[in-house]
Amino acid sequence: VGKAEFIEDKERLRRLAPLLDAPVKRHVFVCNGKSCAAFGSAEVKAAFAAELEQRNLRQGKESKGRNPRGEIVLTDCGSIGLCTIGVAVMVYPEGTWYAQVRTAEDVKEIVETHLIGGETIERLAVTQIPIPETAETELE
Ligand code: FES
Repeated sequence: VGKAEFIEDKERLRRLAPLLDAPVKRHVFVCNGKSCAAFGSAEVKAAFAAELEQRNLRQGKESKGRNPRGEIVLTDCGSIGLCTIGVAVMVYPEGTWYAQVRTAEDVKEIVETHLIGGETIERLAVTQIPIPETAETELE
């Protein structure tokens, strides 16, 4: 277990993590689990990075070609269970889970239609968190 001190001072936390002051609107996760990697998750992540950085939307350090005031955080994540239908991509705060994201065109569509336009792409969306209650659970 780490021995780092627990910092209570919020101002100090903000200085230590400038991301906290960025006007972030969305967080995009690209699964890099084994199965999604076999479907090309590294290329999908690279396509998101290129699309977002070109538009100056990706939050991060300027030295890395990102924007400290960027509106979108892009990160990897581990397997979330869509392994057989990857690549899995999740967008929050909407909680939209996309599957079979495999081409640069898919990525461009998610960036333009969802991340910028605010609309879900039905062709790729498989569910949403929280998962809607089914009729069965309502029968109880
Ligand atoms: S490996 Fe990506 S969802 Fe399982």
